[in-house]
Formats: sequence, C-alpha cells, structure tokens
Amino acid sequence: MSQQLQAIICPSILSADFATLAADSNQMLDFGADWLHVDVMDGHFVNNITIGAPVVKSLRKHTKGFLDCHLMVSHPSKWIHDFIEAGADNITFHYESENGDLESTLKVMNLIKEENEKQGKQCKTSITIKPKTPVDVLFPILDNHTESIYMILIMSVEPGFGGQSFMADQMEKVKILREKYPHLNIQVDGGVTETTIVPAAEAGANVVVSGSAIFKSPQPQQTIKVMREAIQKNL
Ligand code: DX5
Ligand code: ZN
Repeated sequence: MSQQLQAIICPSILSADFATLAADSNQMLDFGADWLHVDVMDGHFVNNITIGAPVVKSLRKHTKGFLDCHLMVSHPSKWIHDFIEAGADNITFHYESENGDLESTLKVMNLIKEENEKQGKQCKTSITIKPKTPVDVLFPILDNHTESIYMILIMSVEPGFGGQSFMADQMEKVKILREKYPHLNIQVDGGVTETTIVPAAEAGANVVVSGSAIFKSPQPQQTIKVMREAIQKNL
C-alpha cells in the first residue's frame, strides 16, 4: 500500500534540559513539532550515555507526543521489551548493532513484532545506518519486508553527540532510497539546521531530526516552520 508522505519535524530531546524534560518536550509540540526524537545511547555502541526506557516511561505519562526512539545501543534485542512497555511509538535500531548483518536485523524486527503482539501495542519498526555503512545493505529488507518497515533513518553525523556538522555526502543515500522507494518515510538525523535542511529535503527526506538548531533557536516555532516548508516544497 502506498502512503501519502508527510513532512515530519522531530526535535531531539537530547538538546532539552533533562531536569525539565516534560515541559521542554511539550513546548516543542506547542511550537509545531510533529514528533519527539529520543536519543538512547548505551556508552558502548557509541561513546556517550544518555537516557533509557525508564525515562521514556516517565515522559509517556506527561506527553501525548509521538515518541520516536533512536536506539544507539549494541544489543537492541535486550531492550525492545522495555521500550515497548515504556510507551515508545517508534523504535529505530542500527543495522550495525547486534551482529551487523541481515540475519540479526531481521531477528530484531521480529522481536518488535512479537513484543507488540504480547503487549497489545503498535510500536513501529525502523532501521538506520551510520555514515560509513553502504545504503544497499537495506535493499533486501526493503524489497522483501516492505510492510514491516515504517521508516529508514540516514545518519548525517557519526552517532554519539548532538551539535555536530551535517555530512552532505550522506544525502546521496537519501536520493538513492527516494528513487527506489517513492513512498518510504526517509528520516535524516544530525546537523540539520535551517540551511542544511535544504539538501536533505531536495534529496527526498520527508522526516528530519534537529536538536541544537531547534532548541537553541531564538524562535523555535519559526525554525520548525522553515524546516517544514523546505520539506513540503520537495514532496
Ligand atoms: C546523534 C543523535 C542526533 C542528535 C541530533 O547521535 O542521533 O539525534 O541529537 O542533534 P543535532 O541536531 O544537534 O545534530
Ligand atoms: Zn538521533
């Protein structure tokens, strides 16, 4: 089934004040954001530790926002149960995690399906690749398991930290995916600003994550609007 693509702007709550997380998150929704992007780091897959399922569980009680959980962890299969139980609306895990191959990726996908069934939930399944991973590793998944994949995230920085520079060369992957899969949700994450949104949108991304550029903007509402318009222009 083809779907009509929407422009989706996701502030990364990594740039929020964790002591006032619920208020900061809801303020972003009031400013016009579509989703809340939750960067989960385990200090092993990436060289940083952020937040885990307990924080998602707490946040869930205080917001109706779509919780887009980006798992930068070595063993996502260990955490799927907890994140679904905590109220994640989407789980994006890395192709490079677990064994970094097709088989282990399909296993994690299947685990999300099983946990959804067990818990009566409808958490979406998405996959991401780091800058050095070639885009074609995703083709067998997208060609043979289309219905199971909600979104592909193309990282435009090395995962681990907010505030890094946008890697424009990664947009080639977005172009390739957009040509091959016109109806796929394609997300870009890392270094997205009011300027770098343009190449991302032109390449075909319809979902963007932005941490520093939105949270540090003097007018976050305006920044979100500029990003949305850049995407809509290219849909
Ligand atoms: C990087 C994270 C990103 C990051 C984005 O590892 O996945 O979501 O928080 O932040 P900015 O927009 O500041 O690059
Ligand atoms: Zn992220």
